[in-house]
Amino acid sequence: MREPDVTRPGRVRPRRLRRGAALRDLVAETHVRTSQLIMPHFVLPSTAGVEPIPSMPGISRLGVDDLVRAVESDLRLGLRSVLLFGMPRDRAKDATGSSARDPEGTVPTAIRALRGALGSDIVVFTDVCLCAYTAHGHCGILVNGVVDNDRSLGPIAEMAVVHARAGADMVAPSDMMDGRVAAIRDALDRQGQSDVGIMSYAVKYASAYYGPFRDAAHSSPQHGDRRGYQMDPRNAAEAVREARLDEAEGADMLMVKPALAYLDVIHRVREASTLPLAAYNVSGEYSAVKAAAERGWLDEGAIVRENLQAMVRAGADMIITYHARDVVAKGWL
Ligand code: PBG
Ligand code: ZN
Repeated sequence: MREPDVTRPGRVRPRRLRRGAALRDLVAETHVRTSQLIMPHFVLPSTAGVEPIPSMPGISRLGVDDLVRAVESDLRLGLRSVLLFGMPRDRAKDATGSSARDPEGTVPTAIRALRGALGSDIVVFTDVCLCAYTAHGHCGILVNGVVDNDRSLGPIAEMAVVHARAGADMVAPSDMMDGRVAAIRDALDRQGQSDVGIMSYAVKYASAYYGPFRDAAHSSPQHGDRRGYQMDPRNAAEAVREARLDEAEGADMLMVKPALAYLDVIHRVREASTLPLAAYNVSGEYSAVKAAAERGWLDEGAIVRENLQAMVRAGADMIITYHARDVVAKGWL
């Protein structure tokens, strides 16, 4: 038998599988589904209110009634998961972010309203972090001007318990303190909230892509930056270490954030853990696409589809994205 001559032009033709949409769909390796999308919301400490966020076209801060209406209409489109960020009542910020632990605060009130209107038809995730509630804007408690890891754990765990009691399905700590997943798990279990899960922002980089979010949530640090607690963008092996630690501490889901500049990290974490993995397509990634699309420089739908496919191809099971509503309403998948 003669060895096949792989060099004969035309014998091997990968393009045979690209002839026509039906054949391409048949062999497609990646599928992004509506059920994988999580829509973030910024909640105002009021009943009514729609405040467009200039740096995030298409996204508004919503009062609780407007939030419920938006989530109801998204649910009719098929979007079943939300991630809530709150703003403190009366803009009340202090050194320890005490309004983050107020059972009558913005996020607990919003959770109860959503549960009342939609019951268990939706999955409610809540961001757990102090930065929108502290006067200094850091994600933890300051001691002598620096964020003190262990002093921050109690207040963060308490915030998680308040969200759980109000009816959150999953709490999502984004502060990047060491040991906070264990602290939250223990606090939830002690308070009879063992059914409430933890989606850990396990791998969260100190990223310039959060710029628009900090305008939206009024959560910029008043001095310094977050590099003392968020990860260095140069590191990937460390991401695997962070992910393993959070899994060992009892996280139910892991997250990598941001997404697009960190697809290699999503891939590595995917290989290192069998926990469900979320990618957070953050505010700056959203705003960059919107700005280019507004100028007619990019085809928004095609770009968003390609970006979401890249995240799933890299290994994400879920995507938190401000594009979620448009993706579904406009049929971009
Ligand atoms: C709060 C938090 C941030 C984001 C999510 N939770 C901002 C930050 O860490 O500065 C960013 C989300 C986005 O940019 O869309 N810790
Ligand atoms: Zn924070």
